[in-house]
Amino acid sequence: MKERRRRTQDSRRVTRLESTNARLKSSNKDLLSLSQRSILRLAAVVLDSNDAVIICDLKDRITAWNRGARKMYGFAEAEALGMSIRKIMPASKLLMARELVRVSAKQGRKAAPIEAQRRTKQGRVVDVLLTVTVLRDEDGRAVEVATTERDITALKEADRELRRLHARVILAQETERKRLARELHDGVGQILSGVKFRLQALPGQMKLGAVAEAKLVKVGGFLDHAIAEIRRVSQNLMPSELVDLGLEAALHALCREFKERSGVRVTIRTASTDASPEVGLALFRIAQEALNNIGKHSKAKKVVIELFEEGKDVLLSVSDDGIGFSRASGPLTGRGRGLGLGNMRQRAESAGGSLDFRSKPGAGTALTVRAPKAGPR
Ligand SMILES: Nc1ncnc2c1ncn2[C@@H]1O[C@H](COP(=O)(O)OP(=O)(O)OP(=O)(O)O)[C@@H](O)[C@H]1O
Ligand SMILES: [Mg+2]
Repeated sequence: MKERRRRTQDSRRVTRLESTNARLKSSNKDLLSLSQRSILRLAAVVLDSNDAVIICDLKDRITAWNRGARKMYGFAEAEALGMSIRKIMPASKLLMARELVRVSAKQGRKAAPIEAQRRTKQGRVVDVLLTVTVLRDEDGRAVEVATTERDITALKEADRELRRLHARVILAQETERKRLARELHDGVGQILSGVKFRLQALPGQMKLGAVAEAKLVKVGGFLDHAIAEIRRVSQNLMPSELVDLGLEAALHALCREFKERSGVRVTIRTASTDASPEVGLALFRIAQEALNNIGKHSKAKKVVIELFEEGKDVLLSVSDDGIGFSRASGPLTGRGRGLGLGNMRQRAESAGGSLDFRSKPGAGTALTVRAPKAGPR
């Protein structure tokens, strides 16, 4: 009796287990078919993508090539598979799979797209943005590299065109400043000097009373002031030191004038550089705007300006101990912002260099420009 009951219980248990097993199998099947479906959908998206998607092994042989790659680079899938990835790279810009694995490991989770160049079957060079995925085996070893490649040639060309335009605007501005500086100095300045000369000669030419002579001295004082002002404005427009003696001398003169005008303490350290006149002018204009900003906004007590060389580059830094500003309240937001900071960056870029700008409320402002001495390549 007992034995029969036990067997019945066992057989019920088996039935339950079998039914659970069957349910598990069926849901596994569902899961499997679902993931296969999504994998297939994803694969279709990758295949049809307008971006090129390429997979390469670590010997740089292409192992997968989608339609986007065919459209962008002109090789059919049958031609591309097994081909070396070098075939779509300009000779001077080789970027092999192992290099991509290295870059990707270095970037870690923060992987950012990489700018690169490709060469099409017809030999046209294309600018691309690469998103890199390293494919690994179960042991975590890199075996292949997948890249999603977006054609940014038009974007880069627009960017280059914009830079050319900026450079032209800057050139036109400088030509106009030169002309104005000359006209002011040689025109109005000379006329005022002539008037002053004649005025000084008057007491010898006619008899003047004491009152008239005192008035004459006063007018002479105004004239002196006007002549000095014309000289200062024309000097600001195109400093003669920069043209005649170079960047170092011009920076020293600029600092002298700034010290007198603002009362701020200025320390200047310069090394002689052989920066091209174009680069010298760009650095001078940046220093000029930086000092203008310090005078207008910073409430600084001390400014340090340094000019030095590092290899083929020339560097200029300007820092102050003033009130600083934050990005939220500062120049990068809001309407009615000034032009100075943008102009400084454009100047640096037109000279083939870059500008690093740092400021913190209460902790002063510092900028550094680095540019190749020889100017833009
Ligand atoms: N050295 C500095 N110290 C404190 N604030 C600064 C300094 N330099 C710039 N700023 C802040 O950044 C803003 C933008 O500077 P920017 O030179 O672009 O414009 P601006 O000087 O106001 O006007 P513009 O240069 O067109 O005459 C300034 O209005 C100021 O708030
Ligand atoms: Mg300014």
